[in-house]
Amino acid sequence: MAQKDVGNKVPIYKLKTTKEVMDYYDEWGENDKYNKDMVDWNYTGPKETVNTFLKYEKNKDALIFDAGCGTGLVGSELKKFGFKNFHGADLSQKLLNTIPLNLYKKLLRTDLNKPINLKDNTYDAIFCVGTFTFGHVKPNALDEFLRITKKGGLICFTINEGIYKNYGFDKKIQELNKTNLWSEIEFFKSDYIASKDVNAWLGLYKVK
Ligand SMILES: C[S@@+](CC[C@H](N)C(=O)[O-])C[C@H]1O[C@@H](n2cnc3c(N)ncnc32)[C@H](O)[C@@H]1O
Repeated sequence: MAQKDVGNKVPIYKLKTTKEVMDYYDEWGENDKYNKDMVDWNYTGPKETVNTFLKYEKNKDALIFDAGCGTGLVGSELKKFGFKNFHGADLSQKLLNTIPLNLYKKLLRTDLNKPINLKDNTYDAIFCVGTFTFGHVKPNALDEFLRITKKGGLICFTINEGIYKNYGFDKKIQELNKTNLWSEIEFFKSDYIASKDVNAWLGLYKVK
């Protein structure tokens, strides 16, 4: 999210530490406020990313990791299309606690800026929606996503346009394209939070 997104809250770009980000979301989750704001702002990130994924993944039993799952908006979208095997991870335990019971098969409290405590080649697909944004998760998380995804699996993410170059996502993606570890299937500017004039790059990559 960008500073334009957050109404009367502290501007998100001012958050410096992981603890500040966590406290921010812990508070935003209270009284269903995060979900209500996402409806009010017509936040389309989860829907757009899942719609893109549907073009390439036909196996409804696919095991999916939702990195930075928040209140579970990606999981709700996946469920609409018959996917049922997904795990979620997030920094904010309070947001994880708001997720409807039985939506995700497993939930982990995780800092995605650190090595992820999961085995190599575990998942058929990774989602990371709304989480590559100001002060949140850095480009190196893509290395971990590659590690935990099976060969032939898909990695789908949004990157807030405001940090794409500033945080070095452009260079990281170019590097990974050169290494032959994945191939780019989709990369385009998505609506994301068009109502707030905030767009995001949406990428979908196939692991080789
Ligand atoms: C804008 S929300 C997106 C949540 C959800 N994916 C969605 O689309 O509604 C960003 C999420 O990133 C999480 N987050 C921020 N920094 C993180 C980190 N270092 N590790 C894990 N999650 C983080 C926040 O707790 C929050 O749930």
